[in-house]
Amino acid sequence: MTMPVREPDTGTPPGYFEIERSAEIVGASFATTTDPRLREILQSLVRHLHTFVKDVEPTVEEWQSAIAFLTATGQMCDDVRQEFILLSDVLGVSMLVESLNHAAGGRLTEATVEGPFHMVASPERELGDDINVSAEPGQPCLVTGRVIDQHGAPVAGASVDVWQANSRGFYDVQRPDEMPPGELRGLFHTDADGRFYFRTIVPAHYPIPTDGPVGDLLRATGRHGFRPAHVHFAVSAPGLRGLTTHVFVAGSPYLDSDAVFGVKQSLIVDFATVDDPLRAAAVGLPNPFRHADFPIVLQREDPVRE
Ligand code: BEZ
Ligand code: FE
Repeated sequence: MTMPVREPDTGTPPGYFEIERSAEIVGASFATTTDPRLREILQSLVRHLHTFVKDVEPTVEEWQSAIAFLTATGQMCDDVRQEFILLSDVLGVSMLVESLNHAAGGRLTEATVEGPFHMVASPERELGDDINVSAEPGQPCLVTGRVIDQHGAPVAGASVDVWQANSRGFYDVQRPDEMPPGELRGLFHTDADGRFYFRTIVPAHYPIPTDGPVGDLLRATGRHGFRPAHVHFAVSAPGLRGLTTHVFVAGSPYLDSDAVFGVKQSLIVDFATVDDPLRAAAVGLPNPFRHADFPIVLQREDPVRE
């Protein structure tokens, strides 16, 4: 049987599918999108997706397993588990979006991913409180700092929301039978000088949830799922750009191979050992204790001061 000879491209009506012009043809189908940003996003998506498929040339079975993977990812999601965010995290896309949207020029504190464990409101706490409410085992720790703007002016009354894992690497929401809700979380407000300070324990490094499709992906690719030890911060104040970030414990394992690519050099902080019984007594911690101190520099959005 002879195959029909293909006509040269010049005579092909624009809507008929051809491998060579696939992205152009499908992209044109979105030309009627009235929202210009949506049109730009969809046409770019089609261009990059078609380039990817032409590069990889998946078999039909490979494409079906890709669809099955995405289906399982969606099926893993519920009110407290967001597997798609986890997928975006391990592909470095969450971090890329965060960084592109919070380009921290100059002395501004850099942003990093929020992660899935800020799912409950942190309890309101007074400066100096211990967020290790039920006296979990761990190295006692004092965290102190100052919220300032890019000009160095203190930000009084800034809200400083913190959450962290315990010394075994678990958040309260992961161990509801062992940890009371709000354990190792706190919502503080800075004093007139922009200062915040609270007591806690040093968090441990921990694995991201690996019992779903993202875990399968990590195992299939020989990647580990660990994050280095860190304390999360979400800081906001009127007139300043809000910031979601972490401070990472200097010397923690996995600082240079975070499963979600969240580490930036500027966010690694020394949790120094203080061996001073008088100071320990003054801050209400056993001796010795660890101390982390760092500024959080927010961007004032008020153009008058620029
Ligand atoms: C976290 O640090 O809480 C986190 C971030 C991304 C994925 C999993 C956990
Ligand atoms: Fe975390």
